[in-house]
Amino acid sequence: MKIKKCVLPVAGLGTRFLPVTKELAKEMLPLVNRPIISYGVEEALASNCSEIIMITGRAKRSLENYFDRSFELEELLKSRGKMDLYNMVVKISNMAEILYIRQREPLGLGHAILCAELVCKNEFFGVALPDDVFINDVPVLSQLIKIHERMGGTVIALEEVAPENVSRYGIVKSQFEVEPGVHKIIDMVEKPKPEDAPSNLAIMGRYVISPTIFPLLQNAKTGAGGEIQLTDALKVLCEQEPVWGVVYKGRRFDCGTQKGWLAANVQLAMDDPELREVILEIVNK
Ligand code: G1P
Repeated sequence: MKIKKCVLPVAGLGTRFLPVTKELAKEMLPLVNRPIISYGVEEALASNCSEIIMITGRAKRSLENYFDRSFELEELLKSRGKMDLYNMVVKISNMAEILYIRQREPLGLGHAILCAELVCKNEFFGVALPDDVFINDVPVLSQLIKIHERMGGTVIALEEVAPENVSRYGIVKSQFEVEPGVHKIIDMVEKPKPEDAPSNLAIMGRYVISPTIFPLLQNAKTGAGGEIQLTDALKVLCEQEPVWGVVYKGRRFDCGTQKGWLAANVQLAMDDPELREVILEIVNK
């Protein structure tokens, strides 16, 4: 069965990016001219996931509004003959079928994924953490879907990180490499101390997940940071079903932090011929 659904957890409060996230949803911060969330949705669509499921919270109404029709704005643009802008605005509201599910309490990523159970309980589904923005020709989610279509099972995006950074991520233990860059995962741990990490292969925010995860999440106890962790449920899953880790191709930016967000903006601007000039002018001065 083809992967059709992609879950995007967006209920997080963005404490790593205060003070701007005190009032503004972190997913609405711009990357050049589009909000961060748009990149996640565009990646899911480019990976042929036509059903987007956002796990949202009360402070995130601006995301729903962004992907909805905006009649006042549309009428204004039409009446002023600004048809390019009108078409751009209408296109956003037509880009995807989006279902919004409320995560009523901030109980962690595992709990956010559990909120999608009603919609995803019978099929494998994609997960994209919107903070992790990948700039790449072949979407990272589609790289994982290709492995799932060939080998079945759950698939997780991996990146090698420096030993001093393992405590920021979920870290996996590989049994062996089945082919270059594809690992059979037999264990994992969320945000370990460097001395406890089973490797330096870190989980990055893209997954294809088996529906078997739902009962495991239901039984999950609170883990690292006092939250229900997806990594803890995936650890149990890899004892029951194949879980593959794929060292993805592409460049990742952690847009949940000021540094990562700034780096992504500079990179995207440098990739644009007009904006590149602006950056180079500032740097050269
Ligand atoms: C989450 C996951 C973690 C993963 C990370 C990637 O952590 O729990 O396993 O390595 O995303 O960005 P968070 O960054 O939400 O704390």
